[in-house]
Amino acid sequence: MVEIAPGPTRVHGAAPLESRPITAERYISPAWLDEEFERVWPHSWLFACLVRDVDEPGKYVVFDLGRESILVSGTASGDIAAHFNVCQHRGARVMTARRGCERSFTCPYHGWTYRPDGRLVVVPDNQRFTAGGVDRSARSLKPLRVEVFLGMVWVCMDPELPTLREWMGGVAERLEPYCLQGMTLTGDQTVDIACNWKAVFDNFQELYHVEHIHPQHEKMFDCPTAAIDLFANGHTGVVIDGHTVNTRLPIPDELTSYLDLQVRKFGGDPAEYYGRVLDIREDVQKLRREAGPRLGWDYDAFTDERLSDIEQYNVFPNTMITVQPDDALVVRARPDPTDPNRCLWDKFTFHRHPSVGVADVAGVTYEPFDARDVPAAGRPDHDQFTQEDVIAGHKTMTITIDQDIHFIRDVQAGMHSRGFTDQLLCDDEVRIQHYHDWMDHYMGRR
Ligand code: FES
Ligand SMILES: [Fe+2]
Repeated sequence: MVEIAPGPTRVHGAAPLESRPITAERYISPAWLDEEFERVWPHSWLFACLVRDVDEPGKYVVFDLGRESILVSGTASGDIAAHFNVCQHRGARVMTARRGCERSFTCPYHGWTYRPDGRLVVVPDNQRFTAGGVDRSARSLKPLRVEVFLGMVWVCMDPELPTLREWMGGVAERLEPYCLQGMTLTGDQTVDIACNWKAVFDNFQELYHVEHIHPQHEKMFDCPTAAIDLFANGHTGVVIDGHTVNTRLPIPDELTSYLDLQVRKFGGDPAEYYGRVLDIREDVQKLRREAGPRLGWDYDAFTDERLSDIEQYNVFPNTMITVQPDDALVVRARPDPTDPNRCLWDKFTFHRHPSVGVADVAGVTYEPFDARDVPAAGRPDHDQFTQEDVIAGHKTMTITIDQDIHFIRDVQAGMHSRGFTDQLLCDDEVRIQHYHDWMDHYMGRR
């Protein structure tokens, strides 16, 4: 293995002044988990659901986040509203299905009924409430702030927080050209896993583990030279050269199967690249840009580098968005209501042209981009399963995430050991430190 210069670390905006050790407490302490429900979740913008699931009056999604439940809905006026999913009679959950479409939302306990804009419209036997019945105008569902970005609905409980775009800082501009809202949703999965929700985020904030547990990546990406971005409010990013190989390892003479496919996809000849594997990245940029107009694909918003590379942004506190020109992945970690050792990972998969196969592009017969994930019509159903299902091979979230799932529960187990004091992070893991510095800031620990 050769030593190479790592990519740069770029700091955007203010960061907390000093770093504190990252001990096990934040991963295993119920008191810490409780405090997050007071100090972190109510004071952050949170990715709640996809616009496509609430884009008509009455369409709704229930976004459960730990002990909180939020009802996002399309209203009669064409807006998207978010309310706490808690009945203003005696506090029952108004809606219990994960997703659906109803003219109005009726609490199953005593039948109080709300419009999708939150207004209380029906109180059964209203005359049984003394003093002239219930003042319905005073008992609407309690609203949250809503903003839409990238076809995603974001909600916020804090009236003082800046707008989503301001709060995201430079991350919003980085993500905008990828237009996730124009991509097809090809997967909607949730895995129940035995780790703290922040351990998920840590996993997606460093590439140090990639050479060890994701050997397939050395045939597609050059992770050791990735450039790191640190943003205010705890967001982080990483930009990785794609359509290449890991340059820290011996460079192969022949194309890897992945690179072979990519060259064919855009009409190139793999035979031309014997002994020139490192030329492919730039050639793919050119091939993709040339192929765009012919295929009706618009790459005008992309720099050349972005036509070949992969970028990942972790939006504080719990949403990770990975983008390439033609596909994207959103992973969201949700805490358990009471157990710091459990969480849910949601994974949304997007493809820009899922129906276009390589055969359509290069005149050769290859599989479509990801044929297995393309729904026959409309939206794929949500699929929820456990980490055991993944480890047994009954479910997959793609090979890379399956590999992460194999290891991360053991990290959580290790956090409980008397033999563990605190993390020692390498330069590549600076995103983890940055994230937890901001976590400490929100938690009032500095
Ligand atoms: S708690 Fe909802 S109607 Fe009573
Ligand atoms: Fe990983």
